[in-house]
Amino acid sequence: MSGRRRDFLKTMGALACAALPGRAFPDLGTAPSAGARPPDMCAANGVSTSLFIPGPQGLFGRLAPGGAPLAMRAAAVDGGGPWTLGFHVEHRGARYVNPTLVLQRGEPVNIALANALQQPTSMHWHGLAVATRNDGSMIPPVEPGKGYDYAFDVRDRGSLYWYHPHPHGFTAGQVHGGMFGLIEVEDDDERALRGALDLMPGRSEIALLLQDRRSAGYAANDTDRMHGWLGDHVLVNGAVCPHLDVATRIYRFRVLNASNARTYLLGLRSADGKSVPFTLIGTDAGLLAAPRRCEQAFLASAERIDILVDLSDAAIGDSVVLETRAFDPMHMESSMDAAPAAVDHEAMGHAMPPPAPAGSAQPAVDHAAMGHGGAFPEGAPKGLLQLRVRERIAYVAAVPARLSTIAPIAVSQAAERPLRLGFAKGRWRINDRVFAMSETPIAVQRNTVETWLIRNYFNSMPHAMHLHGFHFQVVGRETSPAQVAALKVDEAGRLATDLGWKDTVLVWPGESVRIAIDFTLPFAGEQTYVFHCHNLEHEDGGMMLGVKVT
Ligand code: C2O
Ligand code: CU
Ligand code: CU
Repeated sequence: MSGRRRDFLKTMGALACAALPGRAFPDLGTAPSAGARPPDMCAANGVSTSLFIPGPQGLFGRLAPGGAPLAMRAAAVDGGGPWTLGFHVEHRGARYVNPTLVLQRGEPVNIALANALQQPTSMHWHGLAVATRNDGSMIPPVEPGKGYDYAFDVRDRGSLYWYHPHPHGFTAGQVHGGMFGLIEVEDDDERALRGALDLMPGRSEIALLLQDRRSAGYAANDTDRMHGWLGDHVLVNGAVCPHLDVATRIYRFRVLNASNARTYLLGLRSADGKSVPFTLIGTDAGLLAAPRRCEQAFLASAERIDILVDLSDAAIGDSVVLETRAFDPMHMESSMDAAPAAVDHEAMGHAMPPPAPAGSAQPAVDHAAMGHGGAFPEGAPKGLLQLRVRERIAYVAAVPARLSTIAPIAVSQAAERPLRLGFAKGRWRINDRVFAMSETPIAVQRNTVETWLIRNYFNSMPHAMHLHGFHFQVVGRETSPAQVAALKVDEAGRLATDLGWKDTVLVWPGESVRIAIDFTLPFAGEQTYVFHCHNLEHEDGGMMLGVKVT
């Protein structure tokens, strides 16, 4: 093993993410290898496809409208790789399917949607703060053969957002079918980072779209609706475990979990099985104030993380795999009638453990089996993307110590709203209710700050809770399961991925997550949004409530 290689493998020896003290990549010792079972390392048989990177047109092609109007046609797709549906756009002689919209903060967006599907659809700009009429949720969907004009200004911080349909009851199938695209909002923080690290979109800055699928296409049964749709394979930008040939420099990966229901525990591993740390620089809605060095991070449906991978000390021939690591998917909803005696309730932070049946030696609960998912159960380890070091270049850059400014929302005067996630009478519910378009059980006052205490029952499963219209801050986590608590970075129980602006937050069984929301709104009149689980089967099943801002 060369000296360079050993440098490259330097890791920090702790699971939780650490602040970077001055230098970007301090020598903090050697990490434990990350989990017992090595995952499928990608292309063990020597065969793999190269990572698909969107070009200036075509599938996910980058399109900077610069204020110009766009027409988007929701329709079937031919030759869209694994996807059969998408948004077609023609602009200045170029044709796109699901274009990556590159937008400047402050820029106006005008998009005319035409629905050429056999189903109602709509467009939701996930993570963008828009008025109700542009949000695609609390307005009637666009019927087949009809159209709708979206017009709004980009008010949000620089980050990776995404768009997808939101017609109640049809969202899961349409997203699985391929109806989604990325939105890159650029602002001064973004430009400063790209400048400091010499990042070029499509070359050294690459968006990764994770989606697990079943080849047979979307057909959710009762089990899928209960747990969420899990695929039997996972695609990264449309391919199973592709590779990317890289040079000795820093790469930026902006990862979107576009899966209907699956959560990933993302980490990096070298060919000899060691965990390789990454630098977390951003979350759903923009850059963190300061970078954090991490070994792994959970990523739930609809969440994004922005990470840097430093390969500048790697040797030609080294390879690193981005993987999802083994974790307990905690599908405890299946254990409602089987007493989960083998589960360590204390460690998992359960407030009121069900009594253990006296004297019964229960077999260990097989969470992977409970999480279903057939060939690829949730929580099973798998390689996602292989980085192959192929070129040595001269590259000297340091990760800036400050990336952005994040002012904490002042919560001392805030009223607290309890929100309970649970299952009853065959449906997932929030505060015992299911969604009705005509109802807004959450009524908030404009220009006020609230904290929401989102509590998930123990006999539940993780729920990725998403709010439209507003970004929020995670204030703290309580009674987190052990595998989550192991990643906490502060006294409040927050994870590194809780430190930035968020629009979606994963709440584990038995856990309580407190978020702060500032309901200051630039749009006049009453506005309505939704708060829902982004497990799309749960969303379609009604695990969603209307939110009214008056
Ligand atoms: Cu990405 Cu209401 O959704
Ligand atoms: Cu959204
Ligand atoms: Cu859910």
